[in-house]
Amino acid sequence: MMAGTRNLSDYPDLSTPRLSLRRLATRDAAAIVRIVGQWDVARRLARVPHPYTPDDARFFLEQVAPQEWIWAITRTGADALIGVIGLTPDKRDDRAELGYWLDPDQWGGGLMTEAGQAVLSHAFGPFGLSVVTSSYFEDNPASGRVLAKLGFMETARTMRPCLAMGRDVPSVEVQQPRRA
Ligand SMILES: CC(C)(COP(=O)(O)OP(=O)(O)OC[C@H]1O[C@@H](n2cnc3c(N)ncnc32)[C@H](O)[C@@H]1OP(=O)(O)O)[C@@H](O)C(=O)NCCC(=O)NCCS
Repeated sequence: MMAGTRNLSDYPDLSTPRLSLRRLATRDAAAIVRIVGQWDVARRLARVPHPYTPDDARFFLEQVAPQEWIWAITRTGADALIGVIGLTPDKRDDRAELGYWLDPDQWGGGLMTEAGQAVLSHAFGPFGLSVVTSSYFEDNPASGRVLAKLGFMETARTMRPCLAMGRDVPSVEVQQPRRA
């Protein structure tokens, strides 16, 4: 996919006051398994199997990530992956869906809001997207709060599949139009 200044093979690392967002690499597999393998993380995500194996991480790194704009979240000056944030391109060229997860050890410090701000600035800036959407399960108020802090507005309530839970889960759809 390629549109305007955005394509899937060429996008930059981003930085925030506390974080460096860089491309995923094969060396991230163990951290991904350790973090996403935790039920508290997997049950809040749509497309993560549970239990989560090194093969699942390999599939994510080799098959999924190259189709999306995905960054490893690291603390500035450290290489270790502590989370992931990304934009999934939509069929409509000017839209993408925001998704993310963070190591539970790091929750509650404002890190995902900080990472989200950097990714949204890039989405509406250099990528030139018009709309960014996201969604969260109703029983995940922390993510709802992150999205609200980032400026997202609720657009609908639906049922969405959760692979880890093996069923559809009540979800909140949110969206954010291009910034003025
Ligand atoms: C959602 C997640 C990314 C949040 O990351 P984080 O860095 O802790 O987020 P922040 O610290 O920036 O913001 C969290 C906000 O949620 C609030 N919060 C946390 N737990 C909450 C709860 N149970 N009820 C209501 N609000 C809650 C915090 O108080 C904070 O809001 P505040 O700044 O107004 O006080 C992290 O919890 C996570 O990785 N969860 C598992 C995966 C996941 O849910 N991914 C998103 C799927 S849609």
